[in-house]
Amino acid sequence: MSAFLQVDDVRKSYGAIEVLRGVSLSVEKAEVLAIIGPNGAGKTTMFRVMTGEVPSNGGSIRFDGKDVTHLPAHQRVREGFGRTFQVARVFPDFSVLDNVVVAVEARRRHRGEPLGSRWRCAPSDDVRQEAMALLADVTLAGLADHDARFLSHGDKKRLEFVIALAGRPSILMLDEPTAGMSPSDRAEIAQLVARTQRERGITVVMTEHDMDVVFGLANRIMVMNYGEVVATGTVDEVRNNPKVREVYLGKEMVGNEMAGGDAVARAAAESEQPHV
Ligand SMILES: Nc1ncnc2c1ncn2[C@@H]1O[C@H](COP(=O)(O)OP(=O)(O)OP(=O)(O)O)[C@@H](O)[C@H]1O
Ligand SMILES: [Mg+2]
Repeated sequence: MSAFLQVDDVRKSYGAIEVLRGVSLSVEKAEVLAIIGPNGAGKTTMFRVMTGEVPSNGGSIRFDGKDVTHLPAHQRVREGFGRTFQVARVFPDFSVLDNVVVAVEARRRHRGEPLGSRWRCAPSDDVRQEAMALLADVTLAGLADHDARFLSHGDKKRLEFVIALAGRPSILMLDEPTAGMSPSDRAEIAQLVARTQRERGITVVMTEHDMDVVFGLANRIMVMNYGEVVATGTVDEVRNNPKVREVYLGKEMVGNEMAGGDAVARAAAESEQPHV
């Protein structure tokens, strides 16, 4: 019996550079796995391979008992994958509400759930209510009519999280959900992830540089470096692993960021660019 998500010996090269060198991981249902590692370790690439955004050059991925190795990203979404990005992706010219409406309607359409009747370009009351309830959950309902491009970085990340939830995923892949956020926004997102996981029983795989967030949320941690797995274990096992300490040599591990400053600062800078 394989795990809920079972990844075996995944490899990925860009030209001559091997970015993933045989990475394996398993995630049980309702578990939170955090993938950590220094900048350039291959965490986002691993995400992109797992979600089907880029093909791997080897290895296999099974999800919920099914081989999804060769399924494109949109079909993995239908299988239950939800995803957020290191730099938030929302429709900038849509209102906050419409960003969520699109996701709710897409899910209902794919799953054969009732869409309700649209009036001109407006969604049905039912869809609108579901979208508003999701926004209220992350205290974004007050910004429902604003264009998404005017949101703060933290609010964009929150909106992206809600868009992912609107698909009712069974596994949520969060690539640096708190990157570039203020400490209070980070704590809020961490609480949101914890609550979502608890209430909906969603399985979560996340990358994160903020160790407070990782240690607070993860059931297990996998450490990557140079495209390989250095260690996997509980928070305590990973904290006390000498190999992990070596990877983060010179970095304070407890209640701090492991090599996180660069990524957070970069993501913050990138967030000021227009989003696609
Ligand atoms: N499309 C691409 N083409 C070429 N090289 C790439 C591409 N994507 C990633 N890489 C390289 O692969 C390596 C791993 O990148 P990746 O983004 O997966 O790292 P990461 O662990 O997510 O880092 P960070 O913590 O900074 O987000 C890096 O050396 C990066 O330059
Ligand atoms: Mg990354």
